[in-house]
Amino acid sequence: MKKNIGNQFAFYPTPVIVVGALVDGKPDFTLVAHIGIVTHDAALVSLNKAHYINRGIKQNKVLSVNVVDESWLEKAAVAGGISGRNADKSTLFGYTFGGLGAPIVDEAKLAMECAVEDVYERGSFENFIVKVVNTFAEESILTDGGKPDYRKFKPVLFEMPNYTFLKTGETLGECKSFIQNKIGRN
Ligand SMILES: Cc1cc2nc3c(=O)[nH]c(=O)nc-3n(C[C@H](O)[C@H](O)[C@H](O)COP(=O)(O)O)c2cc1C
Repeated sequence: MKKNIGNQFAFYPTPVIVVGALVDGKPDFTLVAHIGIVTHDAALVSLNKAHYINRGIKQNKVLSVNVVDESWLEKAAVAGGISGRNADKSTLFGYTFGGLGAPIVDEAKLAMECAVEDVYERGSFENFIVKVVNTFAEESILTDGGKPDYRKFKPVLFEMPNYTFLKTGETLGECKSFIQNKIGRN
């Protein structure tokens, strides 16, 4: 029998990303796990108003979403422990500017350059509603059809209740055939 554990916020695990933006013309990078899909063409990046990077995102209305995998987790973690307000995080990673001018982390095998379309303020958070404009991916993580292959590329996940990083799980099945087999049988 399930136990009611109160209003535990249990929307985890979520992918870990490093958000990149220019603040006063200089790159800042911040570790973020509170991200979500809003529609098929928009996502939400939730940032505490106190963070240094927010100012740059609002200045340029552009940010990069750099998806973290195990190969650069240790470096990425630093971006979650230090604020650009107190330290220069511009040299933490190599970076290349995307077409919109957002700094894209070289270490990230998969990254998106996003235009900020809206900001939804709630309490002490600014939730940036973003649209993907450019996606940059290492060829080694793509399917033959040119899409990200999450059997080759494994984003690190984060869960807040126990403050833990997790590995992405194993493949359970191809979704369409999985459902069709199930419907066929029932
Ligand atoms: C695992 C992890 C996940 C985090 N996720 C978020 C998040 O989703 N939103 C947020 O506002 N801060 C988050 N942070 C905190 C920021 O990364 C951290 O405060 C950072 O130093 C802010 O940097 P800045 O001031 O240069 O922007 C997270 C930190 C860690 C360690």
